[in-house]
Amino acid sequence: MDKYVVFGNPIGQSKSPFIHTLFARQTGQAMTYTAELVPIDGFVAAADAFFASGGRGCNITVPFKEQAYLYATQLTERAKLAGSVNTLKKLDDGAILGDNTDGEGLVQDLLQNQVELSGKRILLVGAGGAARGVILPLLAQKPEAVVITNRTIAKAQQLAECFSAYGSVSALGLDEATKPDFDVIINSTSASLSGQLPGLSDSLIKPQMTCYDMVYGSGVTTFNLWARGLGAGKVLDGLGMLVGQAAESFMLWRGIRPGAKQVQRELRRALQ
Ligand code: ATR
Repeated sequence: MDKYVVFGNPIGQSKSPFIHTLFARQTGQAMTYTAELVPIDGFVAAADAFFASGGRGCNITVPFKEQAYLYATQLTERAKLAGSVNTLKKLDDGAILGDNTDGEGLVQDLLQNQVELSGKRILLVGAGGAARGVILPLLAQKPEAVVITNRTIAKAQQLAECFSAYGSVSALGLDEATKPDFDVIINSTSASLSGQLPGLSDSLIKPQMTCYDMVYGSGVTTFNLWARGLGAGKVLDGLGMLVGQAAESFMLWRGIRPGAKQVQRELRRALQ
């Protein structure tokens, strides 16, 4: 049976085995998917051992995504630009392909929730690894603009420069982002993980907009509570992105696109 795994540290919280097992059942694929805790200095050894034992592909989560980027012998364009890899696949010639499916997972989740991106103005909050990973897939949807805002403006400016050849992308200070002229606001900051707000102006929020928090939890996230309280028309959390990136990885490995909806429903129920 074809073997897949997710590598991380910590790994106990990973929903990937649950998601991929459901995908495999849904699509009738004969495969196993397990989670493996890897010592902090042991990623290369774990990946080598996995592929040597016949493993076909793996997901990589914190803190190994940059190491997986270096481990891959080939990279997709989106992984190159993301600077990190969340999916590895062993190709028939033995090469190890590195991909990053996080951004496409976000885009697919937005589209499945009827959030239009083409011709729209998107405010991306944060300029760390999570932001970097989603910019190219967002630009591929041909928005009017992607504007990156960050507590440390220099990092937003650097990121905007990196992607300037791929579409309309610019940077704005947190205190300069005040006009309600965005259709979608995406929070990629790690502030959410500790229940903090990223420091956006209340004046950005309007009824006919979508606010998306890349994190998720058992209840509504702090950022989404803030946005909803100010009247944002639609708020979404990162559970859909999680299932979306998994679906993209599954597609890369198996060539079949699984359905995300049912899996998302079951995950949401398990979280409550
Ligand atoms: P990740 O890989 O999850 O993106 P990261 O690369 O450490 O993590 O980036 C964290 C991002 O969250 C950064 O944009 C950071 O802002 P700074 O660049 O100014 O550090 C942002 N962030 C973290 N805590 C924040 C807070 N309390 N308020 C606003 N932004 C915050």
